[in-house]
Amino acid sequence: MIILKSPEEIKLMREAGRATAELCALLKEKIKPGITTLSLDDIAVSFIKKRKAIAAFLGYRGYPKSICVSINEEVVHGIPGGRVLQEGDIVSIDAGVVFGGFIGDMAFSAGVGKITAEAQKLLSVTEQSLYQGIAQARPSNHLGDISHAVQEYAESNGFSIVEQYVGHGIGRQMHEDPQVPNYGPAGCGPMLKEGMTLAIEPMVNAGTYEVEVLDDDWTVVTKDRKLSAHFEHTIAITANGPEILTKI
Ligand code: MF3
Ligand code: CO
Repeated sequence: MIILKSPEEIKLMREAGRATAELCALLKEKIKPGITTLSLDDIAVSFIKKRKAIAAFLGYRGYPKSICVSINEEVVHGIPGGRVLQEGDIVSIDAGVVFGGFIGDMAFSAGVGKITAEAQKLLSVTEQSLYQGIAQARPSNHLGDISHAVQEYAESNGFSIVEQYVGHGIGRQMHEDPQVPNYGPAGCGPMLKEGMTLAIEPMVNAGTYEVEVLDDDWTVVTKDRKLSAHFEHTIAITANGPEILTKI
């Protein structure tokens, strides 16, 4: 069942989204060679505490940290720890913040220092594929229009779409109906309506679309160990079209 949000609820989601976007902006500034992924988590923990908010990921299905930090071939759900970011890495950070009873969910990928042209292209194409999807998020379109736009953009630029993990409805719960795949035919799936709130989150790979989970039971990596990128926004569908909630 898709839970529609009232204008008052969307106002609260806008606040949760803004806090999430501010956290991501802060973390982006800290991405430099030499910092550990655990320090990034520490920074997130203190920001969330200062804002009197709650980390949505901590304890979710036993997840041990407050953010996910996934490097290079890691697709999503990398657990912060002692690993040090190196010049040339690409890093994906995913953060979820509960504020006023609602959740903001956002992810971005960025280079550490100087990265290759191929890595830079993967980052730009993945981010643009997210915006192509968001552009379809308006009343009387179908969910498949979002999915198809993401897939079309990423694949026409020579990359592949992860199918095993998808976006989702979001609100008081991090994962609500519907699932939001990043692939599939246009025109299919539920009709989009004013008041729907979705987390759209393409995961785009440089090589094969296939992924596997490491022995820590969380970290998702590409099967061929080639690079992967991930961008996510929480959005609301309004009468006038999409509104990005995870923005400052
Ligand atoms: N953005 C991810 C998602 O929507 C974050 C979940 S990580 C977890 O599924 F640790 F909380 F599971
Ligand atoms: Co999400």
